[in-house]
Amino acid sequence: MMEEKHITWHEGSVIKQDREKIKGHKGAVLWFTGLSGSGKSTIAAELENVLHAAGAHTYRLDGDNVRHGLNSDLGFSDGDRVENIRRVGEVSRLFVDAGLITLTAFISPFQKDREMVRSLFNEGEFIEIYVKASLEACEKRDPKGLYAKARKGKIHQFTGIDSPYEPPTAPHLVLDTEKLTIEEAVQLIVSYLQKHKYLKN
Ligand code: ADX
Repeated sequence: MMEEKHITWHEGSVIKQDREKIKGHKGAVLWFTGLSGSGKSTIAAELENVLHAAGAHTYRLDGDNVRHGLNSDLGFSDGDRVENIRRVGEVSRLFVDAGLITLTAFISPFQKDREMVRSLFNEGEFIEIYVKASLEACEKRDPKGLYAKARKGKIHQFTGIDSPYEPPTAPHLVLDTEKLTIEEAVQLIVSYLQKHKYLKN
């Protein structure tokens, strides 16, 4: 039996909409998913530059960075990846509640976990962006030399090699980085945010 926790939710009177009003834009999470080397981190970082320059309040959570701190106790087993995404989902929820445009760049390989994260948000607060590139292309780019190591058996449970990646079935945006430049990919996201009235103008 689960132990009773004796905790209650304490409601304050400043709510998300109040924080959004000061910022002049909506709070939402842009959830990038894709293979290692697909371009998630690069696109998220460049998009943050553009949004920041336009006066938006942003925060970026990146897999490699978060695994240095908050999630330094986690590895790459299926269970650890589930926990990685659960924690990042919860942190994103706090940042979105704070009114920030939050950008997350995690492989987030499992559909079920991305659905779990989506369920933490209200309609319109969670935008799933599939950064699409074939395994062959990512392996050829191999910016960190990790695919080569995985092929040699020096890294185990590497996504795409001996750990699965489940592509999203209904993402809000698909960015094919074998066809698009970084700037074009960023522009597609900015247009999406403008069209759906996330930004000031
Ligand atoms: S996730 O699967 O749990 O979402 P996350 O995005 O946090 O992964 O971390 C992926 C990054 O960790 C990769 O870009 C790569 O640099 C590094 N990495 C190290 N080992 C692995 C591995 N076995 N599989 C995938 N990425 C790995």
